Amino acid sequence: MEKGFTEVMSRDHAMIEACLASAFSAERRHANLQEAMEYSLLAGGKRIRPVLTLETCRLCGGDPEAALPFACAVEMVHTYSLIHDDLPAMDNDDLRRGRLTNHRVYGEATAILAGDALLTAAFEQLTKAKLPADRIVKAAECLSKAAGSAGMVGGQALDMAGESRTLSLEELELLQSLKTGALISAAAVLGCIAAGGSVKQLELVSAYAQALGRAFQVRDDMLDVTSSKEELGKSVGSDRVNGKSTFVTALGLEGCAALVEELTRQAVEAISGFDSPGFHIWLAEQMACRNK
Ligand code: IPE
Ligand code: IPE
Ligand code: MG
Ligand code: MG
Ligand code: MG
Repeated sequence: MEKGFTEVMSRDHAMIEACLASAFSAERRHANLQEAMEYSLLAGGKRIRPVLTLETCRLCGGDPEAALPFACAVEMVHTYSLIHDDLPAMDNDDLRRGRLTNHRVYGEATAILAGDALLTAAFEQLTKAKLPADRIVKAAECLSKAAGSAGMVGGQALDMAGESRTLSLEELELLQSLKTGALISAAAVLGCIAAGGSVKQLELVSAYAQALGRAFQVRDDMLDVTSSKEELGKSVGSDRVNGKSTFVTALGLEGCAALVEELTRQAVEAISGFDSPGFHIWLAEQMACRNK
């Protein structure tokens, strides 16, 4: 069974990589902007968000191929968020996806612009989906809410505020659900929207992805302490150096492990409302014990 899911993942990866690689190939190149965008976008990464879009579309009875532009849009927003997250004004990190961070190679101005351009390109991607117009409008609403001040960017603002004072557990939960949960949740919901899913399907998918997204960020905080830059492909120890309030500072490593387990259980319970939730259950379990 597990082998089957790994193959599904590999097939999805191949579709996603091909779509991302061709996204800017026909554009006229200015200075080294497109090169900087592709430097980060095509540097690998786990691609968990676009895989979630494709597989949630399948789960809700749609054709994953039709959801591919939505999937790539989410990955573009995510990559932009990483480029900006690594900037000196934010986490000031040197390594990402096994490479020097974007600003270390192209300079801060180009890194900011590459992020800006990926964010806007994401919304252009949505319009390329061969789907009814009302689904594309819903997708634009979903992605813009998840990416903006009520979602990821809002979470990043709280995260920066956590450098100068200790955040309460309540604030940390809000931070985490915004900075990471919102986009992971949108990734899955976009799959459901692409499939023309029902309100009930949307509820289950969204409960699953919110719990998965929360578990994902707790695990990310743990890996910043326990992993190595060779394994993660990004800087480690960055949260401590920046004096961040994280789940590790609030709960300790053991408390974090218990929370990841509980959130994964909640994710599995929610998605079990579908008839064939196998892939989504497997993915949540893989993410709970991931080492990169
Ligand atoms: C890293 O995300 C930032 C967080 C939101 C925790 P990922 O761990 O998904 O990074 P990539 O896409 O695999 O590089
Ligand atoms: C970043 O969180 C989440 C984003 C919105 C980019 P982190 O700052 O913890 O992500 P990493 O650890 O640098 O990947
Ligand atoms: Mg950060
Ligand atoms: Mg960071
Ligand atoms: Mg982190």
